[in-house]
Amino acid sequence: MEKIEHMEKKYRIVTYGCQMNVHESEKLAGILRARGYKDEAASEEEADIIVFNTCCIRENAENHAYGNIGALKKLKKARPDLLVAVGGCMTQQAGAAEKLRKKFPFVDIVFGTHNLEEFGALLDRKRGRKKAVVEIPDKEGAVREEDISFRTSYPNAWVNIMYGCNNFCSYCIVPYVRGRERSRAADAVVAEVNGLLDRGYKEITLLGQNVNSYGSDRGEVSFPQLLRRICAREEKFRLRFMTSNPKDFGEELVRAIADHRQLCRLVHLPVQAGSDRILRLMNRKYTAKEYLQKVEMLRRILPDCRLSTDIMVGFPTETEEDFRATLDLVRAADFSTAFTFVYSRRSGTAAAQMEGQIPEEVQKERIMRLVELVNAQTREQSLAYRGKTVEILCEDRDEKKGLYLGRDEFGRMGYFASERDCIGEFVQMRVTDSSGISLMGEVAAKE
Ligand code: 5AD
Ligand code: SF4
Repeated sequence: MEKIEHMEKKYRIVTYGCQMNVHESEKLAGILRARGYKDEAASEEEADIIVFNTCCIRENAENHAYGNIGALKKLKKARPDLLVAVGGCMTQQAGAAEKLRKKFPFVDIVFGTHNLEEFGALLDRKRGRKKAVVEIPDKEGAVREEDISFRTSYPNAWVNIMYGCNNFCSYCIVPYVRGRERSRAADAVVAEVNGLLDRGYKEITLLGQNVNSYGSDRGEVSFPQLLRRICAREEKFRLRFMTSNPKDFGEELVRAIADHRQLCRLVHLPVQAGSDRILRLMNRKYTAKEYLQKVEMLRRILPDCRLSTDIMVGFPTETEEDFRATLDLVRAADFSTAFTFVYSRRSGTAAAQMEGQIPEEVQKERIMRLVELVNAQTREQSLAYRGKTVEILCEDRDEKKGLYLGRDEFGRMGYFASERDCIGEFVQMRVTDSSGISLMGEVAAKE
C-alpha cells in the first residue's frame, strides 16, 4: 500500500554541516526511497516532502537553517499537502523542538539525531494525521548496523564506525546533541566496506567524532586493528578517516598507515589553537608542544605524509599573544590545508558561561589574518606541484568548465580534460598550473 501511495512522489533533502550530516542525509534518502519516494526533486516547488537535516555546531549554520525553513511558509500555505520535516543536530538541543514548533507551526515532523534512522516510522505516523509528529528522544538508541543509505557520492562512500563523543571540549555542542561514544561492531564495518568495494566504490571514508577511541566501549578491536582488517583486501582503493583527536593519536595508528598503501597519507588532526592556556580552557588535553611532537613522530615514520587541521579563533579570553601562538603553530606544523572557524558561543557548553567573550570585530580581524596565512601556505604547496604527476581519483565532471575533476591522495582537487568518461578511475595527471587549492593538468601518457 505504502509504495503505491507515494509512487512518483519526489523528495528534497537540505543538508547543513559536515560530512557526517551529508552521509546521514544519504540515510534519510534511503528511508524515503524505501517508502516509495521516487526521485530527488530539482526544486522545492517540485517536492512532495522537504527534509531539513540541520547542524548546530556554529550559530551561522543554525541561522541558515532557520532562514530556509521560514522561507517555506508561503509554499506550504499554497500546497498544504507538502510535508515538511526538520531533524538533525539542531533539533536535538534542549528546548529546540518547542522553539521550532512555535516559530514554524507548519512543520509536520520534528526528529532528532538519536532517532534519525527511525524517520520512516515517524513518516508512517504522520500519514492521515493533521497534528505534527514531534519526537526527540533524550537517550541515544542502540547502534544500527545495516546499511540503509541511498548513496550519491560515488566513487567515495562514507561509513560510520562510531557515533557520539565523550570529550566535552568546552566550546563544543556535539556531545550534547550526539550523545556518548558508541562503536559499531568491527565485523559489521568490515562487511559494509567489503560490500561497497564489491560494488565498485574506490574510496571509503570512515566517520566518527574521535576515531582514535573506536572500540574502547567494546574492548574488542582497536582503530588501528580495524584499519588493518579493512586493508587486508589487496585491490587498489583509498581509505580515509576523520576525525582524529590529537590527544589519542598514537604511533600504532601511524604504523598501520605506513604498512598499508590504501591508507591515504593525509591525516586530519584538528589542533584548534596554539596557546597552551587556551587549549587548557578548551579542555583539549594536550599542549602545543605535545601536538608538534605528534606531528614530528608522524613525519619521522611517514615522511611523505601531509597534515590538515581545524583551527578556531576568538575563543573566550583569547589575547593577541594567544592568537600569535596559533599563527606560530600554523607555521611550525606546515599544514597542507586548514579549516578555519570563528568561535561561536553555543548555549549549554562550558565555554558559553566563561567571562571574556571576544568582541566580533576582534574575531573578524583575527580570522582574516589566519586565513591569509593559511592561504599563503596552501598556495605555496600548490606551486610545488607544478610539473609533477599526481594520481587523481576522478569523481565528477564540471559541465561549465568542460573538465573532469577529482582529488589526489592529499585531498587536492585536480581538473583535466578527457575524451572519455573516467569517473571512478584513477588517472595520472601531469600538473600544468595551480590556483589556490586547485590544480590544473593533463592526462599523462601511459608508461
Ligand atoms: N565554534 C566554532 N567552531 C567550532 N567547532 C566546533 N565547535 C565550534 C564552536 N562552538 C569547530 C572545531 C571542530 C570543527 C568540526 O568545528 O574546529 O574541529
Ligand atoms: Fe566536539 Fe571535541 Fe568531541 Fe570534536 S572531540 S566532537 S570538538 S567535543
